[in-house]
Amino acid sequence: MKTQIHHRFASALPPDDDHLYRTGAWTPQSVEYDAWDLEVEGRVPDDLEGTYLRNTENPLLPSIRQYHPFDGDGMLHSISFSNGETQYHNRFVRTDGFLAEREAGEALWAGVAERPSLARRPCDLGARPNTKDASSTDVVVHNGRALTSFYLCGDLYQHDPVTLEAHGRADFDGRFPAEGVSAHPKVDEHTGEMLFFNYGTEHPYMHYGEVSPTGALTTYLDVELPGPRLPHDMAFTEHYAIVNDLPMFWDPDALAAGHYYPRLFGHLPTRFGLIPRRGGGDVRWFEADPTYVLHWINAYEDGDEVVLDGFFQHDPSPAPRADLSEQHQLFRYLDLYSMQSRPHRWRFDLRTGACREESLSDRIQEFGMINGRHGGRPHRYSYNALPADGWFGFIGVIKHDLVAGTEEVFSLAPGEFASETVMAPRRGSRAEDDGYLVTVTVDVDRDRSQCLILDAADPVAGPLARITLPERISSGTHAYWYDPAG
Ligand SMILES: [Fe+2]
Repeated sequence: MKTQIHHRFASALPPDDDHLYRTGAWTPQSVEYDAWDLEVEGRVPDDLEGTYLRNTENPLLPSIRQYHPFDGDGMLHSISFSNGETQYHNRFVRTDGFLAEREAGEALWAGVAERPSLARRPCDLGARPNTKDASSTDVVVHNGRALTSFYLCGDLYQHDPVTLEAHGRADFDGRFPAEGVSAHPKVDEHTGEMLFFNYGTEHPYMHYGEVSPTGALTTYLDVELPGPRLPHDMAFTEHYAIVNDLPMFWDPDALAAGHYYPRLFGHLPTRFGLIPRRGGGDVRWFEADPTYVLHWINAYEDGDEVVLDGFFQHDPSPAPRADLSEQHQLFRYLDLYSMQSRPHRWRFDLRTGACREESLSDRIQEFGMINGRHGGRPHRYSYNALPADGWFGFIGVIKHDLVAGTEEVFSLAPGEFASETVMAPRRGSRAEDDGYLVTVTVDVDRDRSQCLILDAADPVAGPLARITLPERISSGTHAYWYDPAG
């Protein structure tokens, strides 16, 4: 392995840190690497071509009071495959907040578990003021740039998708919205467009936007909601974008006093807004059973119906579990077992306005990925994370076959945790599951991270290759497969 250190940052975190999400699988990294000729167990397939991108949270400074893992500065990782060769790079996202806090030598903004009034400097983050835009939630590639995003609506920071060289903020040809962009913008691989939403506490509380394949804002619409909401993800089909108004949102009374406490309003329905793409008409709303959904899997059109798959939380407002430690209880909203997240399908009847829904599995799972070429079009398979029980970590990946109604589980060894696992179509592939699953492990016991490549048609057979990275990475949230031919 040829490794160069690009930059080594000083960490001011306590050496005896005992925070649940700054230790173990979530131990932050502070060194940036460039590496080639990585050590491989097994063989990297010659027909795997593209880049696995992973965003993670890595704090360097103590919080003002209470650290939440979503406060950590975004660090992007890229592992690129071409003709059987691999290269790896990792970089902190040089957000304005990251640079200002490095200069100040202390946290300047309130974390998501702290009151915004604690901030030492003001800032206008879209959904929640005086909170740092860490750009740490998600990453997608659009118009040749890897764009990092933050779930509370901020800027999109641009990077070369392979080397991670920084290219400043996306400006959408001078029309980047003042309200920011939420995490989980969607790239339609069939058209090259990027679809996004944002949300906030000012009327109309949500906007929907479309960006052309060359990065210009082409659509920006008001989406009027009954009040401030807390949506996290969106979906799309060939002709519609799908946004949501879920009955879990900041308590309005607390919000009026400057506190951001999410609360379930179980008497309200879940509402889905179908927005005709490219300004094709008004938003049409459908109602369904109350829940909270963190992530959608995919959506597509089926005759007069629109089908949406996602993860239904059967207990969106869980009580603390007596079997867990105080810290685990405090962060129970990160425990997918507490929320009981299971795959679920909603069908919207465009003729009648009715919605039918059904559970797709009894197994707890979340963070589903599909072959990106099926985004917005019918899919048969999803590759979902098998969560750890009691905290935020993934102990395996589930291949869910919606036609056969089967699930196959690839489990990692104890002490080893997966990242969000992407599906990488094999070069020249035609079948939906003809390709590879790619993930990065955090192996706490062996103090290392490896990139695992599995056969998407048969993940249970185990890794085809294990590629060792220069250093153990921190766990994090989202990943993306960049197919340069896609
Ligand atoms: Fe997310």
